[in-house]
Amino acid sequence: MSPRPHTLVRGLTAATAITLLTGAGIAVAAQQASAAAGCRVTYSANSWSTGFTGNVSVTNLGDPLSSWNVTWAFPGNQRITQGWSANITQSGQQVTAANPSWGGSLGTNASTTFGFNAEYSGTNTNPTSFSLNGTACTGTVPTSPPTSPPTSPPTSPPTSPPTSPPTSPPTSPPPAGTKVDNPYAGVKGYVNPEWKAKADAEPGGSRVSNNPTAVWLDRIAAIAGTSGSSSNGSMGLRDHLDAALAQGAGYIQLVIYNLPGRDCSALASNGELGVNDLPRYKAEYIDPIAAIEGDAKYRNLRIINVIEIDSLPNLVTNTNVATCATMKSNGGYVQGVGYALNKLGALSNGYNYVDAAHHGWIGWDSNSGPTAQILLEAARASGSVNNVTGFIVNTANYSALHEPFFQANSTVGGQSVRQSKWVDWNMYVDELSFATAYRQQLVAAGFNSNIGMLIDTSRNGWGGANRPAAASTSTDVNTFVNQSRIDRRIHAGNWCNQSGAGLGERPRANPEPGIDAYVWVKPPGESDGSSSLIPNNEGKGFDRMCDPTYTGNERNGNSMTGALPNAPISGAWFSAQFRELMANAYPAL
Ligand code: BGC
Repeated sequence: MSPRPHTLVRGLTAATAITLLTGAGIAVAAQQASAAAGCRVTYSANSWSTGFTGNVSVTNLGDPLSSWNVTWAFPGNQRITQGWSANITQSGQQVTAANPSWGGSLGTNASTTFGFNAEYSGTNTNPTSFSLNGTACTGTVPTSPPTSPPTSPPTSPPTSPPTSPPTSPPTSPPPAGTKVDNPYAGVKGYVNPEWKAKADAEPGGSRVSNNPTAVWLDRIAAIAGTSGSSSNGSMGLRDHLDAALAQGAGYIQLVIYNLPGRDCSALASNGELGVNDLPRYKAEYIDPIAAIEGDAKYRNLRIINVIEIDSLPNLVTNTNVATCATMKSNGGYVQGVGYALNKLGALSNGYNYVDAAHHGWIGWDSNSGPTAQILLEAARASGSVNNVTGFIVNTANYSALHEPFFQANSTVGGQSVRQSKWVDWNMYVDELSFATAYRQQLVAAGFNSNIGMLIDTSRNGWGGANRPAAASTSTDVNTFVNQSRIDRRIHAGNWCNQSGAGLGERPRANPEPGIDAYVWVKPPGESDGSSSLIPNNEGKGFDRMCDPTYTGNERNGNSMTGALPNAPISGAWFSAQFRELMANAYPAL
């Protein structure tokens, strides 16, 4: 991992740092005098008679670090038996927690958390002094605010996202067995340290890297995680769940994405399981996930499963593609989704959101009704619609959340905007209107009336210089729509690495009636697919919709793709895209 480029001159000099630290009565080691150093640690212990779970959160108040270790001494006979999100070693009472291979970078004001289980006898007295890379941390008292002033001078850019995810602290979880109506409400989301590290390594990335993003379980091997380095990281499902506990997160978002014959209408996200591999999907993929999610130690964590992106809608609109026709006729998608809903919905802390495409895919009546029916079929295959908490739209897509300058019922020069080439008779012009209306349609079809919608806003911001600032004054409907729309894609059917896109609304709960949350399910910066064929062992193909020179097909009106060049395979880090997403963020960073 490369350290985050750092060129800003920070106002906190070595001299002021020393004053602050010595002012708090802590000696500063001489070797730290050349760089601004400081840290704050929050320590908590959840004890029972002979053991406890410890959580440590450290904030780096000094210059960015590319590797870190936190040290302390236990006052008593505490002995650590197992740790997570750090490599923890103990010698006598001395403990050293070093960064895991996937999480060495710690920017200024960035925090990391790790945890452990330990045994003890007698009294479990908390340690009171901690050091980060040898420098004593002066803000160790968890309940009192730090006595030192904030280290970032006013001229520094914000190091935390402007709109932080759920601002309220975690509330105490409901008793086991009780599902809440909206699992996002009132608790903070899990920040995936693997994604965070990649974001932090980009210039300015720390402005957004504290946002919760989803963890994609995109192959069987992702459940256990991979040791060593891998383009997709190495933490397994347990590592993520343990890290979520260590972070004190209230929810974690997982994407269940490994159906047989996956991504049947495209090639970029084809997966490892063949069209007849439903038995393997159940036994080697869903069962192990359900077993891990069901571990009692995670019972107070709300586990949100986003189920099988693009799968069921493909059975409605794309059965002219051979693999989609096969997956419809062999029942692999409906039965697979049903099985996942059943197993994961059975958990008292499990919340299932099923993928429901986006307005530019199923926003026509001829598609939305049949899609609702097939979603219902899969839910019934699970045994009960109660296994469905809600639906997600716009996953990994770029459709605008809200078109500010026209609505589906707007008219221009006596013509409906629906007649424009861009809208093309769609019933909706943006995701918020679609999600709100589709929720009602799904309830009418047979889903519970309290279902909630999620909207993936990770890459639908459409800010930057090309964002229209006002409605067009043209009376020609095509000109009006093209000049007014904030979604700057060449065609609404374009989906791969879209040029000009920006980060959208930051994740937050309850943004609008019927919407459980704006979420970042597609982790910004992860590619949608390679621009040219790149051999790989993940089953991923080359889809020409990711090739900027391709002139399109019937699903994008035979338009240019608008894809960024030089993209890596889907899921791999695409630095140029991440930088553009930040530059075009809306709301701006
Ligand atoms: C890819 C997955 C990846 C996910 C998130 C999908 O398009 O197929 O491998 O994990 O995007 O980036």
